[in-house]
Formats: sequence, C-alpha cells, structure tokens
Amino acid sequence: MKVAAVQALENERFVLGESVYEFEEEFARFCGTKFAVSTGSGTAALVLSLIAEEVQNTEVVTTPMSFVASANSIIHAGASPIFADITFRDYTIDPERVRSSLSEKTRAIMPVHLFGFPAEMGELRKISSDRGIVLIEDASQAHGALYNGKKVGSIGDVGCFSFFSSKNMTVGGDGGMVVTDNESIAEHVRSLRDCGRAKGSKYLHTRVGFTERLNTVQAAIGRVQLRRLDKWNEIRREIASEYDTLLSDLDDLITPPTGNVAVRPVYHMYVVRCSRRDDLRAWLDRAGVETGIHYPDPIHLQPIYREMFGYKGGEFPNSEALCSAALSIPMHPSLSRDEVRFVSESIHEFYDHRS
Ligand SMILES: Cc1ncc(COP(=O)(O)O)c(C=O)c1O
Repeated sequence: MKVAAVQALENERFVLGESVYEFEEEFARFCGTKFAVSTGSGTAALVLSLIAEEVQNTEVVTTPMSFVASANSIIHAGASPIFADITFRDYTIDPERVRSSLSEKTRAIMPVHLFGFPAEMGELRKISSDRGIVLIEDASQAHGALYNGKKVGSIGDVGCFSFFSSKNMTVGGDGGMVVTDNESIAEHVRSLRDCGRAKGSKYLHTRVGFTERLNTVQAAIGRVQLRRLDKWNEIRREIASEYDTLLSDLDDLITPPTGNVAVRPVYHMYVVRCSRRDDLRAWLDRAGVETGIHYPDPIHLQPIYREMFGYKGGEFPNSEALCSAALSIPMHPSLSRDEVRFVSESIHEFYDHRS
C-alpha cells in the first residue's frame, strides 16, 4: 500500500491522475456495473447522485436507522427526507412502510445496507419500477455484499459507497464512489465532482459543480485495498459465524441476521441486541473489550432533525428500539479466534454473574 501511494505521489498528477481512473474501472468491474465515478467522500457520492437524479424540490424516502449522512445528503441535494421505519428482520428499511410513505412528490427511494446487510432490494426495485421513481442504494457499509447474486450498489439505478477509514475497505482517508449502468448519470456526477466542467474542457462550466474529486494517492491506496476486499469480507463472515455459534445460547441476546445462499452480508459491524445493553457494555469495557453503539439515536432524533422537522420520538419505534438495545462487538479481519472466544466468554460471564 505504501509503495503504491509513493509511486502515485512521485509519478502522477495529484488531481485526477491515472490511478483515479484505474481505481474507478476496477471498482466498476468489482460491482458489475458499467461505470464508477469516485468522489471526495461517501456523502459527496450520495449528494451528487441525488442531484444527478434531479431530486430537487421532491421527497426521498429513506431509513432513519443510519449514519446521519444518509439523510443529510438528501437535504444537501435540495429534497426532503421522508423516513420509513426498519424491520427487525434485518434492520433495513421496511418495503411495506416505504409503500405507505410514497406521495405525489416522491422522486426516489434510498435504502441503506445497514451494518453490511443488504436491504430487501427485490421489493424495493418493484416499488420503484411500479411508481417510475429512482432507487439509490446507500452501500457505504456494504462493499461486496450480495443480494440474489448481485453486488449491492449494482441493483438500483445508482449505488453509493464510502471509503471512510472504518469501512470494509478504505482509501487511507475520506473518499467515495458512485456506481451505475446509466452513462448520462455517470457523466453528470463526473462533471459535478469536477467544478461542473463540460466534458474534456478546462474552463467551460455547464453545471454548478463542486470540488469533490478523490485524490490520486488515495485512489492508488484504494486499488490495493480493493484487491484484498473479498478475502477480508470472507474473514468477517467466518468471525460472524463463530460469534453466532458461541452466543446462540443466550436468551437475552439477539445476534445479527445471517443471510442465506442468495443474500450474503459483509458484517461491516457485528451488532447484537440485548435488554441490558449499557450494563453489558460497561462490563465488557472493564474486561478490556472495546464496543461501540451504532447508533445512540436514529437520525430523526438528532438535534438538527428535531429542530428542522419537529420530531419528538415515537415516530419510528423499531429504529428507536434498536438504538436503545444495539451493541457493536469487535469485528474486523485481523481479529484472532482467541479474541473472538474471549469476547464471547466475557459476554457469558456477564450473564452468569447477573442471573
Ligand atoms: C450508511 C452511511 N452513509 C453515508 C456515509 C457517509 O460517508 P462519508 O463519511 O464517507 O461521507 C456513511 C459513513 O460514514 C455511512 O455509514
């Protein structure tokens, strides 16, 4: 990785060097789409896709159970986020609730493949096709996850990825990618990320653009990471399967959805649900096990969303319940089997001690 970064630094243009285009080509091939356009962040990937899909002054239906950037991007693109609650089946947006959230103003549906688990894309595709509206996947947490044999990001009209450092693959900093089979959307995003330039021109601007390019050195790092992604995802699945087995006897603790031969998650996080989450977290902390909470609040209860839209709590009960019970236990490809067993034993000790 270091070698690739230094080579790019020494031999290529800092901005839109060869590595950027090579990374895009390889990422498109990985996803099975015709085009991939890199951006400065996952948020930028979403915002530029939404603008290219002309959502301004419309409504976009999305989940409140995500990182805040999912909904922020809709507002940045000039649309209103309309939330539809999740199912407990897989913590992703509930297609039935999507259906009842549609209005005359709906222009797009934006599911999030939360924690690396694919949303119910078959149903969502059907809804979007029936209504003639756009389906934009927020695949920021799910690089490489499969839904009915297709990579997430390639199922909707547009797919967006983040390469923030905590993701299943990174670029050594902030970065993002838009994938699509639609050439005019790809061209539109390509122009928007590059100051709104007309294709092939330096000082002819046909759009009100942004400076949201992925830099060359980061693209070179991304190319190396992408080659390792399948292996890393496989290790994540093996760790998840081990946790599933080791934690299956605990009545109070619900392990994440597992998928099946057709739906294959990539365990960006391994999130368990339990009634005494905060006590368990403190116990694990004392045992030296670092955990996380994804997320302490659903998006609609973030201060700015309460302020802007008047949410008070109770509107999206499944998301709210998940936020108060979710605990992310250690999950990354370099976790050893001994560490997995130690985490599991520490969790068992908590329940033995408390019962
Ligand atoms: C689901 C989701 N959407 C969007 C983003 C935004 O990506 P970025 O931080 O690269 O802007 C993230 C991650 O940070 C995310 O997890």
